[in-house]
Amino acid sequence: MISVILGLQFGDEGKGKITDFISKDYDDVVRFNGGSNAGHTVVINGEKFKFHLVPSGAMQSNRVILGNGMVIDPEELVDEIDLLKKSKKNIDIKISAGAHIVTKMHKCLDKKEEEIRSKLNIGTTSKGIGPTYEDKYARTGIRLIDLSNTEIIRDKIETIYNMKRQLLKGSIYENPEERGKMVESLCSFGNSIMKYMDYTENVIYNDYRSGKNILFEGAQGGMLDIDFGIYPFVTSSNTLAGALSTGSGFSFRKVDRVIGVFKAYTSKVGAGPFPSEILNGSTLRDLGGEYGTTTGRPRRIGWLDLPLLKYTIMMNDVDSLAITKVDILGKMKTIKVATKYTIDGKEIDYFPRRLEEFDKLHVDYVEFPGWGDITNGEDIISKGYQELPENMKKFLEFIEGETGKTIDIISLGEDRRMTITKQIFN
Ligand code: IMP
Ligand code: MG
Repeated sequence: MISVILGLQFGDEGKGKITDFISKDYDDVVRFNGGSNAGHTVVINGEKFKFHLVPSGAMQSNRVILGNGMVIDPEELVDEIDLLKKSKKNIDIKISAGAHIVTKMHKCLDKKEEEIRSKLNIGTTSKGIGPTYEDKYARTGIRLIDLSNTEIIRDKIETIYNMKRQLLKGSIYENPEERGKMVESLCSFGNSIMKYMDYTENVIYNDYRSGKNILFEGAQGGMLDIDFGIYPFVTSSNTLAGALSTGSGFSFRKVDRVIGVFKAYTSKVGAGPFPSEILNGSTLRDLGGEYGTTTGRPRRIGWLDLPLLKYTIMMNDVDSLAITKVDILGKMKTIKVATKYTIDGKEIDYFPRRLEEFDKLHVDYVEFPGWGDITNGEDIISKGYQELPENMKKFLEFIEGETGKTIDIISLGEDRRMTITKQIFN
């Protein structure tokens, strides 16, 4: 079985939790985009594990692969691997020779670019993601394979510095000694991670040929996709299903199942249009603990948005849905769901592209009564769907009817156990 799991909103849908839950059925889990801008939380028997670079399948699968589509901060990776090895000594880690390397200079550039953007400031995670992808596409980027060659690193750092000299004015990188230190530090981190380097496209293909189950894990969410998200308020990589091929080298033709994860409401970090935003979203924010795993920033909160969800379902060609945080949403007395976008009184049948259109956008909602606290958690876990509160079932069935997809995984709490499955996952 070859599957891909993706976020269908603005990131933070709870993919980490769902990936961990389903990864027991997969030998390999492969990440194919993004870097440490991602924050994936996994909770097992009350113990929390946070992943930024390593795939969140690491606790249950045998092998994790960081694909060429990723941008990797070697310092953060070393820390994350050390931590992971404490609870999972035998995990096999492979990193693509072609993955790009984030340096401290890229993080500095990330901040400088945000200062210059002013009105169209994105609110990035400051993890150096954008500038590293810029260098990748400018063909000046540093790849993992380069970390074994001091001369190449030195040459690339100088090239990047010279191309971005204007932006780096006033920073420590004007000092050649600082750039030299960075080269040394990259070499030393390179030495400690080189043992994980591989031509991972071959590893994945060989595992596929030998009949292994492979799960591809997308980072961020569909609405942050560089091409189809709400540009320019997006991340610098493709976050849709198709990216798994360019980001890992594995053919999209061999993917059996696309799993889309969405939260029962919506959240977003960073700037940009947010059609179903609740202007005073603090109740749900606090109930759901909606603060960034990576940055600690309070997340913006909104209702579930069906036009948006239908768009990302279409763009990913989703087979099966997973919903998270239904327990949290149910605590609200009245729940709203966005069903329709209209502009000047007319329903629109596309996802808006021009920022001015979002200003004119009118969102229609339907309301549902909440279902309160879940008090029969153990019954639900042992007996499944039938035990769910009636109001919750109505809400779930409404979403299934509107999207035409089944919700096969329902998450009712952060712990791995608080998950029930339906149909194909049984
Ligand atoms: P960048 O990826 O750091 O360049 O940030 C670009 C935009 O994507 C900002 O709005 C970030 O808040 C958002 N973003 C990036 N990664 C994530 C994520 O994993 N979860 C939620 N938002 C993210
Ligand atoms: Mg996150």
